[in-house]
Amino acid sequence: MQRIGVLTSGGDAPGMNAAIRAVVLTASQYGLEVIGFRHGFNGIFQRDFQLLQSTDVRQISHLGGTILKSARCKALPQPGGAELAAQILHELGIDALLVIGGDGSFRGCMALSHYYQGQIVGLPGTIDNDLDGTDLTIGFATALQTALDAIDKIRDTADAFERTFLVEVMGRHTGYLALSAGIAGSAEQIICPEYGETVDVADIAADIRSYQQQHGACSYIIVLAETMYPAGAAALAQELSVQSDTECRAVVLGHLQRGGSPVGSDRILATKLGAYAVEQLMAGHAHLMMAGEQAGQAVLFPLSLTGAQHKKADPFLLAWQDRVLQQHKAT
Ligand code: F6P
Repeated sequence: MQRIGVLTSGGDAPGMNAAIRAVVLTASQYGLEVIGFRHGFNGIFQRDFQLLQSTDVRQISHLGGTILKSARCKALPQPGGAELAAQILHELGIDALLVIGGDGSFRGCMALSHYYQGQIVGLPGTIDNDLDGTDLTIGFATALQTALDAIDKIRDTADAFERTFLVEVMGRHTGYLALSAGIAGSAEQIICPEYGETVDVADIAADIRSYQQQHGACSYIIVLAETMYPAGAAALAQELSVQSDTECRAVVLGHLQRGGSPVGSDRILATKLGAYAVEQLMAGHAHLMMAGEQAGQAVLFPLSLTGAQHKKADPFLLAWQDRVLQQHKAT
């Protein structure tokens, strides 16, 4: 093995730069050349790449975003797309490819594997924490902190005005971010897919009313996972205002959650998994595997299974939060 490729793909996640740094520094210990493809898999099709040396990754761990840029690639799933990408990788003498991304990117890896002869290894980079095979994904801890900082600030103004706020967070089809941010921010309600696919507006409105009867005029925060209310958070807030006869405002945190300097734990996770992925690659164990972490140990997990179980938010915390809600409904 002489030359490996690395790319960041899909939604960027804080910590991707620390992962790139770890890959490059570890590869250099083995005398490997690292080619960084820019803009995800598009960099392969467009032959848009750069040689990454140790000096290129100096002092990048604290940076949000990704120095390689990211994108969702339209060309790869097209008929002939994976074949062409594999052909270019072979022409460029890329012996193995490391892909830092989420499940869409890993599906791309699987498609590529039908034509590409080298090893393909995944690193879990997404704020959603929706991948099986790793306890946490790179970027989740930072996104959680960002969402929580916002919720704490919203709590201040909600308290001052005794208002109800609906805070929409990202997470795609899993409620990991919503549940975690909601619990850490002492949210009165958390609406996420794990509790059911539909939103019972009348039930929530009734709870807002009874909570405020019980505690007097006070703030009430609802954390809403994106995708739960197709008409959008503003429409739901409007509906809740009408049905609860209180003032409900919506805040959509959106892409704010993807940015910012990664928290320490994301930088450490990214470094550990980046280094581990290269080591396992050299040992010949990592083909079509994702480098993840389970119970503190770096592990390999089949890339094809990372989306199989549709990872759900922590069942213990889901049940606990539900009991808290039932308790204030009962009193
Ligand atoms: O997967 C990361 C993520 O930020 C999701 O939470 C969100 O649903 C999606 O990407 C948004 O994608 P885009 O930036 O393409 O709108």
